[in-house]
Amino acid sequence: MQANRARYVIGNWKMNGSQQHVAAFFDRLSQVELPATEMVVCPPSIYLSQAAQILKPSSQIKLGAQDVSAHPPGAYTGQISASMLIEQGCRYAIVGHSERREYNKETDADVAAKFLAAKLAGLTPILCVGETHAQRLAEQTDKVVVSQLNSILSHHGADVFEGALLAYEPIWAIGTGLTATPEQAQAVHHLLRETIGGYDSSVAARLPILYGGSVKASNAAALFSMPDIDGALVGGASLQAEEFLAICESNK
Ligand code: 13P
Repeated sequence: MQANRARYVIGNWKMNGSQQHVAAFFDRLSQVELPATEMVVCPPSIYLSQAAQILKPSSQIKLGAQDVSAHPPGAYTGQISASMLIEQGCRYAIVGHSERREYNKETDADVAAKFLAAKLAGLTPILCVGETHAQRLAEQTDKVVVSQLNSILSHHGADVFEGALLAYEPIWAIGTGLTATPEQAQAVHHLLRETIGGYDSSVAARLPILYGGSVKASNAAALFSMPDIDGALVGGASLQAEEFLAICESNK
């Protein structure tokens, strides 16, 4: 039985798209009847205002950023503050994506600071956790994801997760075509919820936990049928409007 939690499909375009792609994608989404699920699209930040103009504030589709600065506006070359993202019509921010942890050397402490900055400014943070293939083979998955979660939870408690989102993205499943089985993903989602539940069971029960890693229309429904999988954080498949809509459709 599925719990009574909000269900989400969030598209993370990563560094893909163009003005033309933004126009075509959001025009298409504005023409169809949308499935009753929370829909969020995270294009590169430079396209947020273009997307916001097509969508209008009343749209069911919300916008998210792929990263956010931990700092308020100031001398931080190349960064974008939470307040600036909000000004562009953005409501969500991904923090701690494995590509930023790897390529930008973001630590758990950096991710925690970004999570709190986003939350404080009024953005909904989407915290990503996940293990490498080597860690899974070494049976370190539980330890790794709990430690990533604890970098926020053990310092700030469960309250900061009220109104936030959590995403389990096994690194070996991102962009590889290898998806965690619904059972593998469910086991980790359950562990994450139990870990938060150790601090506050009602926050844990309300928290949407999304799965990410090679989600597509053909495998989404099986993942969404699991009791602790409340939605998906979708990379490659979220770039095609029809595929994105089909994934949303299976998460009503
Ligand atoms: P893919 O769906 O392309 O595997 O990417 C997943 C992801 O990293 C979403 O944040």
